[in-house]
Amino acid sequence: MKSRLGILVMAAGKGTRMRSELPKVLHPILDVPMLGHLLRSVLGCGAGEAAVLVGAGGERVEEYLRDFPEVRVLWQREQLGTGHAVKVARDWWRDFDTLLVLNGDLPLLRPETLRGLIEKCMCEPAACTLLSFEARNPDGYGRVVRSSSGIRIVEHKDASEAEREVREVNAGCYLFDVASLARVIDRVENHNVQGEYYLPDVISLMQEEGMSVRAVSMPAEEMKGVNTQAELAEASAALRDRIAMGWMERGVMMLDPSSVWIGPDVELSPDVRIAPNVQMWGRTRVGRGSSIGPGCILTDALLGCDVVLTANVIVEASELCDGAKAGPFAYIREGSYLEECSFAGKFVELKRTTVGRNSKVPHLTYLGDARLGKHVNIGAGTITCNYDGRNKHPTTIGDRCFVGSDTMFVAPAEMGDDASTAAGSVITDPIPDGALGVGRARQRNIEGWALRRNQLGRRGG
Ligand code: UD1
Ligand code: CA
Repeated sequence: MKSRLGILVMAAGKGTRMRSELPKVLHPILDVPMLGHLLRSVLGCGAGEAAVLVGAGGERVEEYLRDFPEVRVLWQREQLGTGHAVKVARDWWRDFDTLLVLNGDLPLLRPETLRGLIEKCMCEPAACTLLSFEARNPDGYGRVVRSSSGIRIVEHKDASEAEREVREVNAGCYLFDVASLARVIDRVENHNVQGEYYLPDVISLMQEEGMSVRAVSMPAEEMKGVNTQAELAEASAALRDRIAMGWMERGVMMLDPSSVWIGPDVELSPDVRIAPNVQMWGRTRVGRGSSIGPGCILTDALLGCDVVLTANVIVEASELCDGAKAGPFAYIREGSYLEECSFAGKFVELKRTTVGRNSKVPHLTYLGDARLGKHVNIGAGTITCNYDGRNKHPTTIGDRCFVGSDTMFVAPAEMGDDASTAAGSVITDPIPDGALGVGRARQRNIEGWALRRNQLGRRGG
């Protein structure tokens, strides 16, 4: 037994105007494909069963839809227009009472809006309720032409001069009474400029049958379709502003929200401060009182409380605990872990590396597959030579160690507690607790060398 409401998302179109190999609905808005935003709203509105029609580039869309196991995938092998799309999906929707049909290119639609539409239609049934909005520039949209004989949707390409003046446009979101839709869907024809079967033509067919239809006008902000790269950029900016506004309302501080890009799955705490030109993606989490400086890019980063990223820090799939500090110009790569009050400074790259509590890696260092204890200081220019050309090897450094500048740890390498290395050492053997590892040629001075060189030079010339 099916539930009463079906939600059909049409995502089979070619998206020609994007001029891209990537199917239109997979174009990212922030870090989620356009279709993903719509599906979150569809699933988030808490009503009905959902299906997506795929076609052009359908294999890739279908692959993406594996992230949404509750959504049915339907195929429209030939893309003959939105009317055709709804028709080929009939076996799926015929047993519902009500069908919500959505264009796949509506990434800004909110779940509350869908819920409101569904509730309204439950109270005041009609054969079709479609959403419209006032477009500042209606080019490309179907116009909602209202007259004494009812409502017609006239596609831009089919519209007369006078009809093109109409600014109320069809948003591509329709709620149908299924029995009424089933009675007219086969009669949609393709006698129009594009030779396509237009779904909006069912509006006229329904009225000819004496069925009730209505167009409900909505704020334009949520209803804009994405057909071109420029519209994709516009939608991205709109969503960026919406997300930034939401976080500011919850106590996040931003100097220039228009330059701060936060993905929809990021979670921030009150009193987080964000400088201009910051990007935060994936499942990034930032704790209370942390400060993200300009130019930082965080992807799946876990930041505790009072973490400071001074500027231009890139964090990928890594964790910085309370009071940790990084930057400027640090690159913290996947699997790294900065414990409480530790520090990774200027031109430091960490990969799968743990920096223990209160330990410091202040400058010009690469640490890969390394584990540092507490209160360690790493001198400038230190490198873990963790890769032998075939395999990666670990470096372990104990508590309270002092690593001299320009130390090379040829991994696997080991250093006990309270140990040190002499500057410029190449460490190939384990250093026991409390020892100093020296691994470099001893300096000798050649007395009078400058004078002798000058004499040799004169004779030679
Ligand atoms: C459509 C509407 C137009 C409305 C506008 C709102 C039609 C004929 N026109 O125009 O009235 O103002 O949306 O944004 O519906 N699709 C399929 N199969 C197809 C064709 C399209 O699944 O054969 C899908 C597309 O992937 C897209 C959606 O349907 O997600 C709308 O198609 P699109 O070509 O973008 O329609 P518009 O020309 O924008
Ligand atoms: Ca469109």
